[in-house]
Amino acid sequence: MTDAKRLAGEKAIEYVEDGMVIGVGTGSTVAYFIDALARIKHRVAGAVSSSEQSSERLRAHGIEIVDLNTAGPLQLYVDGADECDPHRRLIKGGGAALTREKIIAEASEQFVCIIDAAKRVDVLGKFPLPVEVIPMARSLVARRIVKATGGQPVWREGVVTDNGNWVLDVHGLAIVDPVGLESELNQIPGVVCVGLFARRSADVVIVGGETV
Ligand code: 5RP
Repeated sequence: MTDAKRLAGEKAIEYVEDGMVIGVGTGSTVAYFIDALARIKHRVAGAVSSSEQSSERLRAHGIEIVDLNTAGPLQLYVDGADECDPHRRLIKGGGAALTREKIIAEASEQFVCIIDAAKRVDVLGKFPLPVEVIPMARSLVARRIVKATGGQPVWREGVVTDNGNWVLDVHGLAIVDPVGLESELNQIPGVVCVGLFARRSADVVIVGGETV
């Protein structure tokens, strides 16, 4: 699996063009992309990072971090996922970076998702769906999620996101309407971000070394 993640990260370099500011996601697959990017860093203008974890790795390689407000629209975003369905809709947030990831995905013209084969599913939901919440709303949001979905939200205790919030992982879902569920859960007061990337799905999916 490590090899598949490395191959996916390296393959994504093919989408990098000279002078780009690149949107960079979070996770172990993205770490391989960052390492590959470092080898051609003289060709890129910098990176907009989705997490402190990725920023640290980018900086260690001498790649400049650019603020999204300064960068404006991005041409390319490269990120991993926890699950990917045949329509390139995703579950993300296993690394608790979902909110910044969704912001950068939205700001980007092309979203290249890098995964290994184990992440491919027919129906999203086997991987518990991460939902970032304002801490004071944790119980309220959990109750509303149970009512709306029948799933079981579990508080990811001890984890604080880069935005100072908490994460609920919703178990027991079979998500047949990802766009509808994303919209519905987004309406609950206290929800900061739902780890469903359905409304803005990936444009390209790379599985191991292959674009599918
Ligand atoms: C972080 C994410 C990651 O992309 C997702 O968890 C996949 O990580 P990995 O590449 O380590 O399997 O959404 O919030």
